[in-house]
Amino acid sequence: MASIEVRDFRFPLGPVPRDWHRDGLAITAYWDQLSIFFPVGERFFVRSVKHYLPQVDGALKDECLAFCAQEGHHGREHVAYNEHLAAQGIPVTKLEALVKFSLGIAQKFLSPRRQLAITCALEHFTSLMGEFVLSHDELLQGSDPTMAKLWRWHSAEENEHRSVAFDLYRAVGGTHFERCRAMVVTSLFFWILVVLQQVVFMAKRGALFSVREWWRLFRHSFIDPSTLGSLVRPFLSYFARDFHPAARGGTELIEAWKRSLVTAP
Ligand SMILES: [Fe+2]
Ligand SMILES: [Fe+2]
Repeated sequence: MASIEVRDFRFPLGPVPRDWHRDGLAITAYWDQLSIFFPVGERFFVRSVKHYLPQVDGALKDECLAFCAQEGHHGREHVAYNEHLAAQGIPVTKLEALVKFSLGIAQKFLSPRRQLAITCALEHFTSLMGEFVLSHDELLQGSDPTMAKLWRWHSAEENEHRSVAFDLYRAVGGTHFERCRAMVVTSLFFWILVVLQQVVFMAKRGALFSVREWWRLFRHSFIDPSTLGSLVRPFLSYFARDFHPAARGGTELIEAWKRSLVTAP
């Protein structure tokens, strides 16, 4: 049996306001632009894992199947999220085309194992960001409750399946050098796209030259509560030869989130 639970959660976004985050436009835009990556990115993750399914069995195979199911549900909810953004005038199709183009290069020119190494790299990002969300309740407190629930759900499941792609990668002979190289290149593409997407969102929302909004985003990212700053060290741990995603634990965060599902209104 897989230790990963597949939850078919749905989040109706119709009533969600444009600036749904408590801290306003720039912070909302930051979360929203992350959503651009998911439908295309998660399809890539699933393909890269599915490729190796015939080569594995037992618990690892069950976990791979649960991983694909979870990512499938995330992708579906982020398609709806991105449609919600498109209705606000965000050029979602164009932005998704850039993500598709980047991952398309990988699909066209890299071996299945190197594609899986990219999935491992991006899973490291999503699990660390998710861990940060789950361990800092204040990040989404006072924001739209549907959006808060969506991001906490995605964060929890990214933590739940954080080791799956990595375990598969090792099981099919993935090397330390190959995964580190994939992380360097993937990080470069990822952050270039994050900056570009943030700029497009700010421009479309009329705040491209708002010093106040950019300052808020800077403060949110590096000062209070220093989201990105505190993730540097855990990010770098990926390059250690003996790195394993499970070493960071996080089970208690997932358990706390599960309890919150019972008590939430
Ligand atoms: Fe996901
Ligand atoms: Fe994931």
